[in-house]
Amino acid sequence: MIINGILLKASLELFGEIMCGIVGCILKEKKAAPVLLECVRRLEYRGYDSVGIATSSSGINIKKDSGKIDEVQERLQLDDLPGKMGIAHVRWATHGLPTRENSHPHTDCYNKLALVHNGIIENYQELKDQLQEEGHHFSSDTDTEVIAHLVEKQMSKGMDLEDALRLVIHQIKGSYALAVIHVDYPNIIIGARKESPLILGVGDGDYFLASDVPAILEETNRIIYLDDEDLFVMKNDGIIVKDSQGRVKENEIDVISWSPEMAQKGGYDHFMIKEIHEQPEVVRNTLSELHEIKKTVENFSDFKRVCFVACGTSFHASMVGKYLFEELVGIPVDLALASEFEFSAGALTDDTLVIFITQSGETADTMKALEMAKEKAETLAIVNVMGSRATREADYVIYTRAGPEIGVAATKTYVSQLTCIYLLAACMVGDEKLLDELKKVPDYMKTALEKEELIKEISPHYKDVTDFFFIGRGFSYPTAMEGALKLKEITYIHGEGFAAGELKHGPLALISDDVPVVAVVPPGKSHDRTMGNVKEVKARGARVICLGSQNDVNLRSEAHYMIEFEDQISEVLSPLIYVVPLQLLAYYISVERDINPDQPKNLAKCVTVV
Ligand code: G6P
Repeated sequence: MIINGILLKASLELFGEIMCGIVGCILKEKKAAPVLLECVRRLEYRGYDSVGIATSSSGINIKKDSGKIDEVQERLQLDDLPGKMGIAHVRWATHGLPTRENSHPHTDCYNKLALVHNGIIENYQELKDQLQEEGHHFSSDTDTEVIAHLVEKQMSKGMDLEDALRLVIHQIKGSYALAVIHVDYPNIIIGARKESPLILGVGDGDYFLASDVPAILEETNRIIYLDDEDLFVMKNDGIIVKDSQGRVKENEIDVISWSPEMAQKGGYDHFMIKEIHEQPEVVRNTLSELHEIKKTVENFSDFKRVCFVACGTSFHASMVGKYLFEELVGIPVDLALASEFEFSAGALTDDTLVIFITQSGETADTMKALEMAKEKAETLAIVNVMGSRATREADYVIYTRAGPEIGVAATKTYVSQLTCIYLLAACMVGDEKLLDELKKVPDYMKTALEKEELIKEISPHYKDVTDFFFIGRGFSYPTAMEGALKLKEITYIHGEGFAAGELKHGPLALISDDVPVVAVVPPGKSHDRTMGNVKEVKARGARVICLGSQNDVNLRSEAHYMIEFEDQISEVLSPLIYVVPLQLLAYYISVERDINPDQPKNLAKCVTVV
């Protein structure tokens, strides 16, 4: 399809998680490097750790390094690179530490091509082993570099760039949004996407590609959305889009009417709601850590106990970990709030694996506990931010792959922590059935997100209450706790999570018709007893929002509002999915109360004081 800007249509297509950002352009008159630098700057609000640009002008020119964009620009003058076309990358490290070598663009053995990539190549290790055997020389630890060498290999057999790339994307497994320039094709940028976001932009004789609309919105608002497995060839007179079989496609040009700020939020009003919607994608990303987790588990020494240590939302993930490990792995598990750890650290024994869960990897209480634990036992950190302190100090590290989370209240990082915990437990006991079940979670979550309209409708009824209770048993107890924490954090309403069985030991005295109760009641062994608690609070006047199976007619008959889930979602898996409407409830009540949910008062994303 040669684009002339014929078809114009507004669109709100939203993309999932973006861990890195890629951009590229072919410009009619201006130099590419300064424009590329501006484009990647617009992606930096997510907090990146490396940056690089490659341009094509009498050969391939590359400048790249680790560090924030401004620091690297000051050191290297990235915008000095010559030429009117090029590609650029900002990296949020996932494979390999943030170093110059691991920064993109990556090249082949002879620096004939430059490539930027966002995504995860799951089979990179076997491809890399094979390429190394064949004599290819690698300069980084990244999964991305295999793509550059695979393209080189096909082209050395006489293939042209487009055919080589098409063949290579059939060889790689995983997700990618990528763009390539090659010394023998000085007027072309070629790229493709699968499961990672990539859009094209059409300016006035200028052409762009980017992971995300905000990167190029100031250059053009005319956007082409690529479908999964599309491949594009960009030249200075237009763009051709093809499907995976090489057939030319007619993708439309959409005109985006968002402001740049709206675009950063993917068209959503707040980062929090955007991040809530990213959760199915995030879980899918985290599930791709299976291989790494299996390798980690093989290296563990024998241990007889587990102790989870964390703060805030990460502590609620730890609570789920306790139930899961005790039920599935059959091992005794202790739980410690990081700020309380020092008071029980004395009893820690060297047959314990201490698991630290922390999104930021920097929370001061968690770091202090990690320092103490290291002296006595083996430590594992489950962390979202690569290169953070926890990743440097713990004996083992598992990454959650949620991508940068901007909203102060944790949402997508919570479900990615849970996913890691489930993967870890399943790997420890070789539970293939659980691994299969986990693959269904992104779809279950998508259905849970469909409750958004209902929650939006009911939220105004709760905006003026002063207290809210959340109850659940077993696996649903942490969900109740997390629902209450979300409410507290972003609505400033007093929310309290209880183990449902504890109601009778005190909290029941506080129940009345102006204290709504949220009951988490998935089908399973805790169901009937929690149903009993629902009846108890109802009898005292409470309006109960019930979360349960779509087939649960008894629960529905007790509910003031019923939030239904697919019946197949087991109690064990429910924490991953049942939490979604509770995040939405807190979000919409916060909006009703005119609070900015992204920046609640008195709270910080990362607490670096003890
Ligand atoms: C802060 C954040 C919470 C987070 C907690 C633990 O309080 O506001 O959202 O759950 O820290 O953070 P961590 O980075 O260690 O998971």
